Amino acid sequence: MRALILNSELQTATVQRVSAPRPGPGEVLIRVHSIALNPVDALYVAHPLGATGRIVGSDFSGTVVEVAHDPASPTDLAPSQRVAGFLQGACSINPRPGAFAEYLVCPTDLVWRVPDAVSFSEAAAVSLCALTAAQAVFYRLGLSAPFSWDTSSGDQREEVAHGDAAAAGLVRFFIYGASTSVGLYAAQLVRRAAEASGREVQLIGAASKARFNMLRAAPYAYDALVDYRDPDWPSQVREMAGGEGVDFGYDCISEGSTVEKVTGTLREGGKVAVVRSREGRAWAAENLATEPIYGAVWEGLGADVQYYGNMLVRASREARTFAVAFYRWLSDGGQLEANPVRRMPGGLDQVVSDGFALLGSGLVGNRDGNRSEEWMRPISAEKLVYDI
Ligand SMILES: NC(=O)c1ccc[n+]([C@@H]2O[C@H](COP(=O)([O-])OP(=O)(O)OC[C@H]3O[C@@H](n4cnc5c(N)ncnc54)[C@H](OP(=O)(O)O)[C@@H]3O)[C@@H](O)[C@H]2O)c1
Repeated sequence: MRALILNSELQTATVQRVSAPRPGPGEVLIRVHSIALNPVDALYVAHPLGATGRIVGSDFSGTVVEVAHDPASPTDLAPSQRVAGFLQGACSINPRPGAFAEYLVCPTDLVWRVPDAVSFSEAAAVSLCALTAAQAVFYRLGLSAPFSWDTSSGDQREEVAHGDAAAAGLVRFFIYGASTSVGLYAAQLVRRAAEASGREVQLIGAASKARFNMLRAAPYAYDALVDYRDPDWPSQVREMAGGEGVDFGYDCISEGSTVEKVTGTLREGGKVAVVRSREGRAWAAENLATEPIYGAVWEGLGADVQYYGNMLVRASREARTFAVAFYRWLSDGGQLEANPVRRMPGGLDQVVSDGFALLGSGLVGNRDGNRSEEWMRPISAEKLVYDI
């Protein structure tokens, strides 16, 4: 099969022919139709952790070819069903194969069935970012989820909260980077949390002004928005939140001073989640009123992942159980609209030259674009997707 293969010496990836994988017990073989790009895919090709020869890439959608049944984990997956999921390709030291290939294998319970009304392109844009947002909203910040998962494994990290963490009444939730892929799903999931708890939610977001109309409309339905380019946005958020500050903040950028500023919008006792770790040094902040909660989406895979310098993302049975429950909710018609997608030309061969060039390997807040093709415009509230 054709696959996008890491060359860590040259800090790039090239399309090569490699053997197609075979599914082991409890795994499904999938013919990949579409892939979606995430910043990590480009980052760890430019600054490789993995060895040459690894298959790059995370998000995919495709068709089931073969199911290798495991009596210990029964599945109703069958050939020709449309599914989506993500792998952790070449963003770690341990040799996990990625998704940017014609075929891949994945555990049967870590894919979700794609409804007929959702295209392969749209489906590819869901799995990694929607799970990241779900982990933050339900698992780390503790808002009520529209599905349940087994919390009895006892291996959750200290800061993981369960149940609706705010006491009563109106919940004020602020999303910084509301037009990011993660932020677009987070807003929808905060709305699902409000329905699950019956509590009223005030949703406040920070985005560029150009995205305000989109974010005020369904399915995001922001109550209030601030322009992240206006230096006064933190005090505007506090004011919109009745002067006391918000109950929850989710910083979907977590670069430079954003974490400090987002934390500054919290009420006393409020909680904040971030998408990048302190150790990664994309952001720095001292003397915060509360320590931001970080977690990696890879926790959902349920395997130890050696990544980001010496950082180890420990296997967590509960995080995996959560991911399985979230994907089951999606399979069963869970109400979540796929993010807008930009269908990129050229398939696998142009992922590095175009897609990775657009994503860059630096900060999300500091991408530079100097190409004139129509599909090379800056990324704004859109996921880059390739058909394979
Ligand atoms: N912890 C995890 O496991 C995990 C998982 C997924 C992603 N992430 C991380 O989360 C971050 C976001 O990823 P993504 O895929 O959601 O990004 P993305 O969709 O590529 O982000 C693009 C958006 O960022 C917005 N933006 C750029 N600079 C901004 C700033 N200074 N303030 C506010 N918004 C800004 C742009 O908004 P405008 O167009 O409106 O200007 C644009 O819509 C990345 O660092 C990614 O690596 C972490």
